[in-house]
Amino acid sequence: MGNRNEEDYNFVFKVVLIGESGVGKTNLLSRFTRNEFSHDSRTTIGVEFSTRTVMLGTAAVKAQIWDTAGLERYRAITSAIAGRHGPGEETQVPSLQNNLRQDVEIPTAGTENESLPPLTHVFAMCPGRYYRGAVGALLVFDLTKHQTYAVVERWLKELYDHAEATIVVMLVGNKSDLSQAREVPTDEARMFAENNGLLFLETSALDSTNVELAFETVLKEIF
Ligand code: GTP
Repeated sequence: MGNRNEEDYNFVFKVVLIGESGVGKTNLLSRFTRNEFSHDSRTTIGVEFSTRTVMLGTAAVKAQIWDTAGLERYRAITSAIAGRHGPGEETQVPSLQNNLRQDVEIPTAGTENESLPPLTHVFAMCPGRYYRGAVGALLVFDLTKHQTYAVVERWLKELYDHAEATIVVMLVGNKSDLSQAREVPTDEARMFAENNGLLFLETSALDSTNVELAFETVLKEIF
């Protein structure tokens, strides 16, 4: 899968990253789009996307990859911002990540707060905004934390409630570099994926194992 000039493409595919907080979504995104990894990345607030244009055969495909907040209490904000910056816009959504302190109280939907974008209430009731137009999804869990795997079905339900039925979904067990701390057996996750019609791979955003392959496989399947 070769790289290509960002401005020269035939197709745009929107791919969303979903899964619990801390499983490595932001680092999978930065590894794939910028070949970067951060040991101390903070919880995503709101929504960000990055792009990378790749060649699939003779077609240049721009992968527009969206990263969501895994934490429930930040998702009203995700919905609000996603609603304002649709996939058709090339504007990079400003990241609030660097400003986040864990003890900051983030207002959730239903809270009266003038500092929130005024559309929050609307989009909190309409989370399909975030998934709208997505043709692929990586549903990520941390293979060293069983709890993040145990809730995969809940994420799947949210996805299928809001995305197109034809969306290509890959289940991704991340942090394969920490094999000594593994809590989710490969076979169990693979079986779950097979039974639910999902692609499956284990990755490491830290040492890059299978990161290219994961995105490449999803993009090819969409194509
Ligand atoms: P939210 O934004 O809260 O939803 O989290 P996230 O899923 O985006 O996780 P993030 O990428 O911020 O990573 C969380 C922590 O796990 C960070 O400390 C990362 O350095 C670490 N991490 C991410 N991927 C890997 C990996 O493949 N291996 C190891 N060892 N650590 C990883």
